[in-house]
Amino acid sequence: MTAEIDKCTLPVIAIDGPSGSGKGTLSSLLAQRLGWNLLDSGALYRIVALMAARAGLIFNQDSTMEEALAIAKLTASLSIRFLGQKVFVNSLEVTDEIRREDVSIGASIVATFSPVRKEILGLQRAMQDSPGLIADGRDMGTVVFPNAELKVFLDASAKARADRRYKQLKNKGLDVKLPDLLASIKERDERDRGRSESPLIPADDAVVIDSTGLTVEQVLEQVCLEGKSRGLF
Ligand code: C5P
Repeated sequence: MTAEIDKCTLPVIAIDGPSGSGKGTLSSLLAQRLGWNLLDSGALYRIVALMAARAGLIFNQDSTMEEALAIAKLTASLSIRFLGQKVFVNSLEVTDEIRREDVSIGASIVATFSPVRKEILGLQRAMQDSPGLIADGRDMGTVVFPNAELKVFLDASAKARADRRYKQLKNKGLDVKLPDLLASIKERDERDRGRSESPLIPADDAVVIDSTGLTVEQVLEQVCLEGKSRGLF
């Protein structure tokens, strides 16, 4: 008989921050370097928004509790799998689709629904696995993993974040406009920071890093130093 692992004792590094702060890149580089598991919690909200739209469920900023509950019910029914960089829902690949701009906006709307957040909470905690977890999101350090050994809040100016997103999307050959991206980032920021449920704020014990003038390597080194000083690796 194998001893059961107590998940609560497995180390977690929580990386929170607004869209485009570089936390996604930082989290995957960190997970690669340490050989730890990676939780991209934003992908979960994106999947819910995509699948709700596909199912014809109506939602917007003024949705009723009934509409929110219908989306939470749909969330509970989804079978989600991450395989390397690929994302599957009910055996269908949605890796690229969930990155669309309309899905980004939809995700930030369904993320304001508390019944949806409640469903997603369990999915996130279930991803805590050996040897450790890098959890990327908005409320990893404040709500989902309040006992995380290291909490990082990565920020950057809205302009710097829109510039980065613009370059990423242009490199993918997409036709995007910088002012539109900046407006979308500001709209999502406002919703993420202003919502009553799990708003985007640094945990009291988070290390806050402003990545505006830093390369991803510089941020990675800073986070590794914080992890080492805590004896995490
Ligand atoms: O990180 P990403 O841009 O993929 O997240 C999409 C949206 O999901 C965010 O704008 C945010 O509203 C929501 N989100 C959240 N809590 C998380 C992760 C993402 O509310 N932990």
